[in-house]
Amino acid sequence: MTLVVGIGLRAGTPYRELRDLVNRALAGVEGTVGSVVTVEGRESEPGLQRLVASLDAQLLTATSQELAEQVVPTPSEQVGQLAGTASVSEAAVVLSGAELVVPKLKSAGATVAVGRLDTVAAPGYSLGDREVVHRVIAERRDVRRGFLDKPVDHELLTRVLEAAHRAPSVGLSQPWDFLLVRDVATRRKIHELASAQRDTFAASLPPDRRSAFDGLKIEAILDTPLNIAVTCDPGRGGRHVLGRHADPRTVWFSAAIAVQNLWLAARAEGLGVGWVSFFEPGEVAAVLGLPAHVDLVGYLCVGHVSEFAAAPELVRSGWAARRPLAWAVHQEQWGQRGLPGEEPSPAVAVQAAVAAAESPERVAGGRQVVRVLVMDGGDMAEHLREADVLVVQVGAEKPAADFGVLWRPARTADEAVELGVEVARDLVLQGAGTLLVDCVAESEVAERLTQGIRWGALACGAVVNGQDEPGTVSDSSA
Ligand SMILES: Cc1cc2nc3c(=O)[nH]c(=O)nc-3n(C[C@H](O)[C@H](O)[C@H](O)COP(=O)(O)O)c2cc1C
Repeated sequence: MTLVVGIGLRAGTPYRELRDLVNRALAGVEGTVGSVVTVEGRESEPGLQRLVASLDAQLLTATSQELAEQVVPTPSEQVGQLAGTASVSEAAVVLSGAELVVPKLKSAGATVAVGRLDTVAAPGYSLGDREVVHRVIAERRDVRRGFLDKPVDHELLTRVLEAAHRAPSVGLSQPWDFLLVRDVATRRKIHELASAQRDTFAASLPPDRRSAFDGLKIEAILDTPLNIAVTCDPGRGGRHVLGRHADPRTVWFSAAIAVQNLWLAARAEGLGVGWVSFFEPGEVAAVLGLPAHVDLVGYLCVGHVSEFAAAPELVRSGWAARRPLAWAVHQEQWGQRGLPGEEPSPAVAVQAAVAAAESPERVAGGRQVVRVLVMDGGDMAEHLREADVLVVQVGAEKPAADFGVLWRPARTADEAVELGVEVARDLVLQGAGTLLVDCVAESEVAERLTQGIRWGALACGAVVNGQDEPGTVSDSSA
């Protein structure tokens, strides 16, 4: 275990006094001292230098301002007045990312505190640091409202772009570019494109969904002082980009990760970011003058906000719900669901559905009515003309269709049930309150999948073909 010793000392404090104090602090603490940290200006003290040499450690310094920003258990007002920080020894330990194990000990001329660096779990990151990272991730929001009439400062924007530019990328190809759009005339053109796509989407919705959509704000192109188009050059780096050869999609993944870095850094800086994808990318490319070899990845609306909502707007409006993590984690094989440390459930979705029905994660369905048609091949075009129909296709051949068709070629009857449950859960998360489920195929997988959809929907609190209790499901297809 690596230890960090934080030391505050008066000028001229002798080596012997420092050594005795450090020995006292280290008594009973396992590990080796890797670094000694003190306030800037004290590093040349002879007593301290001799101590550091005797410990075979590294001597580091921090400014009094950096130290003053740390939260410590025993701050001192007196030290605060003298040194400009209420703690040197404890603050130095905390600042170095160590866990404080020995709080401040004092001698006549010095203070010492000891910390332990958890080099395995999180080298260089204290518990507090780790919490902040998780907090930023949890509190990042897609923001479309509440922007302030305040320009985005160049330095701040550069910091945020720097964060985006530090994103991982396949073969370090860094395929992104960031096009900053402030001009109102350009933003108006982009806004028109988004409005047209909004109308197209609205027209595709069944009536109940459409009225819900009418109340949603989906962009802030003109409400923000700054828009950023994040692009991807799939050919960047030439022919031999390490890692891209087998999966070319990785280049677009890389650019998307840059957006996420930008989004997180912006959140930490108090900037709201809203991603708009209501575009045919080529139309945006034409307005922005993108060269043909560059793709639009994300179009972001950016501006200062005074607050961030606690939950996604789509959740608060009732449009969609979050998917529990437990549904998303599989162990070793697809379908063996379970959080780390939990015994994974067998891939029999009926059991999972019954468990879900009894669990607090049960998500109540919305008001949307969805007609689900399970098919095994055949002509889907006729059904897809109706906006409220979702075709679930179980045939071996992948259908070339839009999102009106879900392709779920189950490999076994058990898997068919599981996939059916999942289809239903996803629909409920997207606002379905009633599922009218029909199976127009004769295969066993089609029938089992239909059964799974019914079970899943009931487990999540939706109504299925007029029934609303898991126990009342009649297995008409079996
Ligand atoms: C690729 C992508 C495209 C998105 N497009 C839009 C959009 O066009 N309009 C919109 O209002 N939100 C859009 N969003 C934001 C999502 O609705 C939002 O991330 C989601 O509801 C979760 O909310 P949160 O980001 O606040 O956690 C998009 C997000 C992503 C990742």
